[in-house]
This record gives sequence, C-alpha cells and structure tokens, in this order.
Amino acid sequence: MGATLAIEEHADRVVVTLRRPEARNAINAAMIRELHDVCAGLEEHPRLLLITGAEGTFAAGADIGELRERGRDQALQGINSRLFDRIARLSLPTVAAVDGYALGGGAELAYACDVRLASPAAVFGNPEPGLGILAAAGACWRLRELVGASVAKQVLLAGRRLDADDAYRFGLVAEVVPAGELIERAHALLDRMARSGPLALRLTKLVADAPGGHPVTDDLAQAVLFESEDKRSRMDAFLAGERR
Ligand code: COA
Repeated sequence: MGATLAIEEHADRVVVTLRRPEARNAINAAMIRELHDVCAGLEEHPRLLLITGAEGTFAAGADIGELRERGRDQALQGINSRLFDRIARLSLPTVAAVDGYALGGGAELAYACDVRLASPAAVFGNPEPGLGILAAAGACWRLRELVGASVAKQVLLAGRRLDADDAYRFGLVAEVVPAGELIERAHALLDRMARSGPLALRLTKLVADAPGGHPVTDDLAQAVLFESEDKRSRMDAFLAGERR
C-alpha cells in the first residue's frame, strides 16, 4: 500500500484503489508518483489493470491546492497528461470502475482507460474552466473520441455533468451496476479479457489505438499472431469442439 493508493497484485491483473478520502481522492503529486510506479511495474510485467476509488468517490480532480501553485513550466511538464498517456499506452486492457464523482483530472483518468463501468452514483464532469484553466490531460480530445463533439463540448464548455444514465446512453460507460457489485463486475470483465490470447489482446489494443497506418499495422500484427503457437492451439481447441 502506498500513501495514496491501495494496490492488489494478482497473477493476471493489478487492482489500484485511489485512496485520499479526506480530499475526495484528488490526484496530488504523491498519487501521480505512485501511479507512475504502478505503470513501471506493468510495463515490465504486463497485466490487466483495474482502477477504482475509495469510499464512494472515483477522484474529484487534480489537487486544487497544488494546481493553484503551478505555473507555465509545470503546465508544460504535462504532469497529469503524461501519466494518463502512460496508462493509456499500457499494453494490456485497463478498466475504470467509477463510483461517485469523477471530475476534472479524475474524469480524464477514467477517459484514459479502455473500458469504464459505473455505479448509479457516478458523475463525470470537467469543471476546469470554472477554475480558470482548461482540461489539459485528455478531456479535450479523448472525451470527444468517446462521446462525440456535441456531448464533449457540453461537458467542456457548459459544465455539463454526466450522470450514470447519461454516461451509459452516450457510450462512455459499458454498464451501470449497483455500487456493491461494481468491483465484482469489473473482475468478471477482466476475466473475460484474460481468457483471450495475451499476445492477441496486446496487439489488438496496439492496433486499435494506432493513430493511422491501417490496414498495414493490422496486417503486420496479424502476421505475428498467425505464426503463434497460441493461435494454433486455440483454433485446434475450437475445431475439436471446445468452447471457452
Ligand atoms: N483538490 C483538493 N481538495 C479537494 C478536491 C480537489 N480537487 N476535491 C475535494 N477536495 C477536498 C475539499 O477541499 C474538502 O476538504 P476539507 O474537508 O479540508 O474542506 C474535502 O475534499 C471534501 O470535499 P467537499 O467539497 O466538502 O465534499 P462534497 O462531498 O461536498 O463535494 C465534490 C464533493 C467532488 C463535488 C467537491 O469536493 C468538488 O467540487 N471538488 C472539486 C472538483 C473540481 O473542480 N475538480 C477539478 C479540479 S481540476
């Protein structure tokens, strides 16, 4: 357990709980450091990642006390954006289980994950302009990719908060489940992912996120997979009547 995170390590996944309940899990420098450490571990030993928040909140944004003191140079360091990009680039899928507020940088952290699940109490929002800044760690482009420009601009420019129903309707979250079942459902989703061929899953994520170059990247990734023993044994199993 770090100072700001609870970390559970399993053979095929890591579960990270943001834990600064006294500040609604606001993302401060210590949490950024600890999340970078988690990323370093996952880069070395790829596993699935589940991120959630303690005590009925996902994360109420970057720590406003710290943000207030940051100037141009810190903005150019991309303190949050680099971390969220690193998370987005992890080689195996990531899931955010969102209960309660996911605001500002907290929302951007959830946007950087591959799949989001929500409890009925989930609220996504980017109130940064109200604090005189912009949402610079992914909301201005990831949210648009996730829900389209119309909804993204309502969130970014008009302070619209998306509740769980909105988030489901707009495709931001895969499912809305009672808070008490959220982690169990997230694990079930990760179980489903873990049944796939690990290299196939990894290359699919890489190709799905590739900014361009299709279909060349897709064909190259497929060329690697077509040579894999895992592919042959999975297809042999199917042809022998096995269903996973
Ligand atoms: N940074 C630093 N501290 C934060 C914080 C943040 N982003 N969000 C909440 N906190 C702190 C509050 O200052 C308060 O501290 P205190 O107990 O020492 O006064 C504590 O967390 C509880 O917050 P409070 O506002 O009393 O809880 P609430 O349940 O009434 O409201 C929120 C929860 C999330 C709606 C509200 O805290 C909020 O709007 N937070 C800021 C959201 C935001 O603008 N994020 C964008 C940052 S870029």
